[in-house]
Amino acid sequence: MTDRDRPATGEGGAVRIAALPGDGIGPEVIAAGLTVLRAVLGPAGLRCEVTTHLIGGAALDACGEPLPAATLAAAQAADAVLLGAVGGPRWDAAPVRPEAGLLALRRGLGAFANLRPVVVHLGLEAHSPLRPERLQGADILFVRELTGGAYFGRPKGVAGTAPNRRAIDSMEYGEAEVRRVLAVAFAAAERRRRRLTSVDKANVLATSRLWRAVVEEVAPEHPQVHVEHCLVDSFALRLLQEPRAYDVVVTENLFGDILTDEAAALTGTLGTLPSASGGGTGPWLYEPVHGSAPDLAGRGIANPLGAIATVAMLLRHTLGRDDLARRVEAAVAAVIRTGPLTPDLDGTAGTAAVTAAVVESVERDVAA
Ligand code: IPM
Ligand code: MG
Repeated sequence: MTDRDRPATGEGGAVRIAALPGDGIGPEVIAAGLTVLRAVLGPAGLRCEVTTHLIGGAALDACGEPLPAATLAAAQAADAVLLGAVGGPRWDAAPVRPEAGLLALRRGLGAFANLRPVVVHLGLEAHSPLRPERLQGADILFVRELTGGAYFGRPKGVAGTAPNRRAIDSMEYGEAEVRRVLAVAFAAAERRRRRLTSVDKANVLATSRLWRAVVEEVAPEHPQVHVEHCLVDSFALRLLQEPRAYDVVVTENLFGDILTDEAAALTGTLGTLPSASGGGTGPWLYEPVHGSAPDLAGRGIANPLGAIATVAMLLRHTLGRDDLARRVEAAVAAVIRTGPLTPDLDGTAGTAAVTAAVVESVERDVAA
C-alpha cells in the first residue's frame, strides 16, 4: 500500500466502508467488527460512513446473481470493503454458486495479493493439535496470489453426458501476475524477519516452474531477504513439524487456499484469523478467514474475533493507523486470554458479550 492509495481522512472526512455481510454468520460478525471500528475511530477523531450491500447467497436470493453490479460499483467506490462470508448448503444446487460472487469481487477490485497473518495466541494452545512447545512464537504471514491460477483459468467446466462426463480446470499464470504478488511478498519480508519461502510444485507443474524462475529473477533485487523454495507437499509437512521456521510464505492461489486453512488449524481455530486483499487500483478487501458457518447462523454465538482482527488490518493498511490496529489486536489478545469466549473456544458467551469485552478493553486502553 502506498500513500497514493490512502484515502484522505483525518480532515473531517469520513472513511467510506462498503460492508458486504453475505451469508450465514457473516452479518453477525460484520456488525461486531463495525462496532469495534467505531469504538476505536471515535476517540481518534475519525468517523466511518458505512453502506451495506448484497453478495453471495443473499444476493442470489434477492436478485439472481451472486455479485450484483450495484455491489461491485459500491465496493469500487469505497475506501475499504469489509466482507463477512459467503455460501452455504442452501445454494448447493444453484446453477451459480455464492462463491462466484466473492471471486468476481476479488477480480473486480484487482485484489491479487491476499495477506493472511497466522499468529498463535496465548490461551489457545489447548485448541491446537500441536504441542505448545512447537507452537510458541510461531508468526507467519501468508501471501496468497488471489486472482489467478486454477480459480480463474480457461477453459473450465463440465462437458458430455453420463457415463462420459468430463471436467476441466486450467491453471495458468503469466509472469507479470507472479511478479506483482512477489513484490508484495518481498516488501512484507523486508518489514518483518527477512525470510521468504516460495511454495510451488515445480517438479510437476509448468506454472510452478515459471513461478520459481520469476522468484529467482526478482530475489537479487532484495539481497537482505533470505529466499528458499519449497515444494507444496513437503511444505505441508514441514509446516506441522516446524511452524516457527517460517516468516513470509508466498504461493499461488489454490496452494494458498489449502495451506492457510492448515496453518489456521495450528493456531487452534479458524475463528480468530483475519485477511486483507488488494494490490490493484481498487480499495482493499478485508474478510475474516472463516466461512459462513450456517449451523451457527442466527444463534448469537458466532465468534466475532476474526472479523474484529480483520478490522485491525483495515486500520493498518487502509488508514495507515498502526497505533489503532495494535490497540484492537491487543484487545483481541486480552479477551482470548481472559474471556469471555464463544462456544467454539469452549466459552459460554455470545457474540455480543465478546464484542462488548473487546470494546471495553479498547476503551480502557484509550483512557490509560
Ligand atoms: C477462502 C475461501 C474461498 C477461496 C472460497 C469461499 C471461494 O475458501 O477465502 O479461502 O477458496 O478462496
Ligand atoms: Mg479457503
